[in-house]
Amino acid sequence: MNRPSSSIVGTPMDRVDGLAKVTGQACYAADYRGDRGAAEGYIVEAPAAPGRIVRLDVEAAEQAEGVIAVITHRNAPRQRPHGMPEDAGRFTQSHALLERDRVRYFGEPIALVVAETLEQARHAAKLVEVEIDCGEGTFNPFENAASAVKPDSLDGADQVDTDKGDFDTEYAGSDHRVDADYHTSAQHAAAMEPHTTVAEWDGDDLTVHMAIQIVSSAVEAFSNTLGIDKERIRIVSPFTGGGFGSKLGIHNEAVLAALAAKAVDRPVRVVQTRRNLFSNAPHRSRHRQKLQLGADKKGRLKAIRHASLAAMARDYPFAEAPASPTRASYAVPALRTTHRVVKADIPKVDSMRAPGEAIGTLTFETAIDELAEACGIDPVEFRLRNEPDADPQTGKPFADRRLAECLRQGAADFGWQGRQAPGSRRQGRKLLGCGMATAIRPNQLNPAEAEAHLTPDGRLRVRLDMTDIGTGSYTILTQIAADALSIAPDRVTVELGDSEFPETAGSGGSFGAASSGSAVYEACREMVEQLLSRLNEQGHTVNSVSIDGDRVMTGEASVPLATLIDAGGLTVTGEIDPDNYDSGEKNYSYGAQFAEVEVDADTGEIRLRRLLGVFDAGRILNQKTARSQLMGGMIFGIGGALLEQSLMDDRYGSFMNRDFAEYHIAVNRDVPDLQVRMLAGYSEKSNPLGSKGLGELGICGAGPAIANAVYEATGIRVRKFPIHMEDLLPSLPRS
Ligand code: MOS
Repeated sequence: MNRPSSSIVGTPMDRVDGLAKVTGQACYAADYRGDRGAAEGYIVEAPAAPGRIVRLDVEAAEQAEGVIAVITHRNAPRQRPHGMPEDAGRFTQSHALLERDRVRYFGEPIALVVAETLEQARHAAKLVEVEIDCGEGTFNPFENAASAVKPDSLDGADQVDTDKGDFDTEYAGSDHRVDADYHTSAQHAAAMEPHTTVAEWDGDDLTVHMAIQIVSSAVEAFSNTLGIDKERIRIVSPFTGGGFGSKLGIHNEAVLAALAAKAVDRPVRVVQTRRNLFSNAPHRSRHRQKLQLGADKKGRLKAIRHASLAAMARDYPFAEAPASPTRASYAVPALRTTHRVVKADIPKVDSMRAPGEAIGTLTFETAIDELAEACGIDPVEFRLRNEPDADPQTGKPFADRRLAECLRQGAADFGWQGRQAPGSRRQGRKLLGCGMATAIRPNQLNPAEAEAHLTPDGRLRVRLDMTDIGTGSYTILTQIAADALSIAPDRVTVELGDSEFPETAGSGGSFGAASSGSAVYEACREMVEQLLSRLNEQGHTVNSVSIDGDRVMTGEASVPLATLIDAGGLTVTGEIDPDNYDSGEKNYSYGAQFAEVEVDADTGEIRLRRLLGVFDAGRILNQKTARSQLMGGMIFGIGGALLEQSLMDDRYGSFMNRDFAEYHIAVNRDVPDLQVRMLAGYSEKSNPLGSKGLGELGICGAGPAIANAVYEATGIRVRKFPIHMEDLLPSLPRS
C-alpha cells in the first residue's frame, strides 16, 4: 500500500473556519435568515405522562398578540405513523409528533405556538391549558427489572449477548473475585447550540436549516415522517454547535417546524430552550451494571461476567452496549455479557458520546482496579499481564493494538508510582490519590462520497454532505485535499452540510474524519489521475503533479491548467468503499489514562489535580484539532466521574434538573492540568489515510481513572457515578 505523502496533514493547522466563527460570520441554523422572515415557534410540553389529552384549550393562546397559529394534534398536517417503516432504523423512521390525543412521555410536545416574535410565542404558550388523564407509567428500570427484555439489537455491537467458555466453572475456580453492582446516571448532551431548525416550504419542496450530525439520514427521516419524496427535501447544515450524539437523528423541534411551516405557509424557526431539550432531545439512560470478575493467584483473568440493565424509550429502538469494551479488553477464557432493557415511558434514549464505552469503561475499569487490588498487583502491571493476543470474544486478530505502549508511556510520563496504600498520602486537609484506566473504542470506516472541482485558475472546491459539529471537519478535509492534489491549502475551499452534495456518513461514532477524509482523498486522487492522463495525451511523460497557482508542475515541465481544463473547470468524484478495508480483523483505537485527585478530608470535596492520556489513533490528521477532540473527551470523562447527572422524579417520569445550574458539566475550574499525548503512528488496515477515530476515545477510561484515584485517596470504593461528596462523607478517614 502506498502511504499518502504528507506535508500538510498532521500539522496543527488553524481551523479554516475559525475566523468565520469568532467574527459571527458562520451561519448556524438559528442564524439563517431567508427571503421570507421566519415566524417563531415555541413548544408546549406535556405536563404529565403517559396518558390521554382530555382537554386542550388553545383559544386564549390563539387570541394572544402576534400569534399566527397554534398547532396541535387537531390541526397538524398529516404524517406517517411514528416509527414507520419499522425496519428503517431509528434515525430514518417517522418521527411524527402531535399525531393524536396520546402523550407518551413527560415533556412531549402537545402544541407548537407560532407567532411573529419569540416573546409572543412564549407568552402565548403559557396560555395553553391542558388536562391529561394519566395511566400508570414505567420510569425506573431498576424498580421494574422484572419486566426487562432482551433488545432486538444493540447500538454498535453485533450481538446483544455473548457467552464464551464456561463462566460458572472458571469463576468458581478463581482465587480472587470481584462481584458488585455499579450504577451510572442518566445524562444529557450539553451542546452549546441547542437543537434548532428553520423549516421553509416552497410548494411541495421543503428546505430545512438545522443543527444535525448526519444530513442524509435527516432527509430520509423527513421523508418518512411527512410522506414526501426525498428529492423534495433539502437539508442545510454548514455549522453545528456540538452534538455528542444528540443530533445524530432529527429531533422534535425539527418535525414541529416542518409541520408548522406547512400549516402557516411561512418559514418557521424553532429553537429548543435549554429546558426543552431535556425531554425533546435524546438522553443516555441510567444503567445498572453487574460485574463478576475472577482471577488466578498470578493475577490472570479467568472469568468475566458483565450484565447491563437500562431503560429504553418505548417505541424508540435504541439500547446502549456498555459491555462492548469488556468484550475486547483482556485475555480471559470465560466471558459472558448480557444487555437487558426495560421499556419505559420516558423521552427518547439514544446515543450519547462514546455510547457503550463511556459508561462501560467507567464501571468495568473500576471493577478491574478492584480485582487488581484483590490480587495485590499494581493496576498497570495487572493490565499488561492480561493483554490479549487476539480479540477475547471472537478470537479474531486485532488490526493493530498498541495498548501496552500507551500504558507504558502513560505510566512513565505521569510518574506512576504503583498502587499506594489507600488513604496514605496526605497534605494538610487533602487526601491525595492516583488512579489509572484503559481506553478502548472501536474504529470504523463508513461509505462516503466527495466531489472535487478544479478551476483553470487553480482553485479546488471540495463538496460533500459531511458536517462540522465543532470537531474540525473543514480543516482536516482541507489538509487532506491539499496533500492529495499537492495544492496550497489556501487554494482549497471545502463546502459541507448540504444534502445536495455527495452523501457521507456524517459525524458520529468517531468515523467522520476517516470516512469523509478518505472520500476527499479518493476524489483528489481521481483528479490527479485525470490531470496525468491529459498531460500524457499532450505528450508529457509524467507520473506526478502538483498545482502551483494556475499551473501544473510535473517535475519536468510547468503547464498552464487552462490548457488541460476548460473554462468551466474539471469535476470528479471519489468514494470510499469500506469493504476494501475490511481485513476481518478487530479494529480499535486505544489509550491509557492517569489521574491524580485530592479529597478534602473534612468536607469530602473532590478536586481533580491532573489528568494525562496517551492515545493510539493511528496517523493524526491535525495535531491541534485531534488534541482538542481528545481533551474534550477527557473533560467529558470528568463529568461522567464527578458531575453529570440527569435526575428523574420517578413518580412522574420527569427530569428535574433541567438547566446548567443543576445539571453540572465540567467548567474551567473543574479542569486541571490536562495532558494529551498521541503516539506517532499509521494504521495500515484502517483506511487510505492511516488514521483511526478519536472523537470519543478521550472519554473512555478518563472517568474510571478518576474514580480509581478517589479510591486511592480515601480507601472508599464508590460504585455509583457521578461520585459526590456525600458518597464519601460518612466513611472518610479521621485525621
Ligand atoms: Mo456519537 S454518540 O456517534 O455522536
